[in-house]
Amino acid sequence: MEIRSAVVIGASRGLGLAITEEILSTESIQSVTASYRSEDTAEALFALEDPRLRRLPLEVTDEASFEAFAGSMGQGDGPPQLVIHCAGILHEPGLSPEKSLRQCRAEALQRIFAVNSIGPVLTAKHLIPLMPKREASHFAALSAMVGSIGDNRLGGWYGYRASKAALNQLLKTVSIECKRTHPGLCVSAIHPGTTDTDLSQPFQGNVKPDKLYSPRQSARRILRVVLAGSPEDSGRFANWDGSLIPW
Ligand SMILES: NC(=O)c1ccc[n+]([C@@H]2O[C@H](COP(=O)([O-])OP(=O)(O)OC[C@H]3O[C@@H](n4cnc5c(N)ncnc54)[C@H](OP(=O)(O)O)[C@@H]3O)[C@@H](O)[C@H]2O)c1
Repeated sequence: MEIRSAVVIGASRGLGLAITEEILSTESIQSVTASYRSEDTAEALFALEDPRLRRLPLEVTDEASFEAFAGSMGQGDGPPQLVIHCAGILHEPGLSPEKSLRQCRAEALQRIFAVNSIGPVLTAKHLIPLMPKREASHFAALSAMVGSIGDNRLGGWYGYRASKAALNQLLKTVSIECKRTHPGLCVSAIHPGTTDTDLSQPFQGNVKPDKLYSPRQSARRILRVVLAGSPEDSGRFANWDGSLIPW
């Protein structure tokens, strides 16, 4: 399908930036709205020179920020046929993945849920009402294989795993509601594959070089899978190659 208008949440760096660039390389696209949290980390996004690109600030843990963001989305661009939420954390100052139960801290768990689980559902709440009701359209969020409960064999990473499992459940629930309100919409949780970004950087030591993908390579594959989704697929948890991942 031809996407004319798209929104990328969390486009300052990493996968969100690469997905924004990849969307802009599509001929049919007329407008891309890309969110950033702070100009300090969004130099690469601000360096993109393209009249079809609009940059808007958004802090995904702040609902008032979503209200301002949605309010700034111009009606002139038409409803977005694609919304993709890429903002997420695995580590940040004062927060790193727990190796054992002993390392679990309430504050860190609340923080990772706020960004990784609640952030995407707020994107759905504020942006799906702007999407086409019947025309084919796509809402996706970047999840992670380690959010699969069925696939959890190694343990550890309590907060990150659980925040992605919660994200998957929230998106599944959104997909069921949207079958009534937006019958043309496909809602997807996507595992991007291990990608060379700041998020994976401290953990790349255990990854074989041929299993570590460039952001642009992953962006291309993610968009291929997202855009191939039909309303019948809505509510899926899919890998970057399109295969389904167990819950
Ligand atoms: N890279 C991988 O191997 C991998 C694997 C599996 C899943 N994923 C998932 O893919 C998504 C993107 O990861 P990435 O590798 O691109 O990470 P990244 O390079 O660290 O980029 C993370 C993005 O999220 C934004 N962000 C974080 N907290 C935010 C907040 N509170 N409000 C607004 N924006 C916020 C960051 O903005 P700032 O620049 O302002 O910090 C940045 O744009 C994440 O959900 C991650 O869990 C990645």
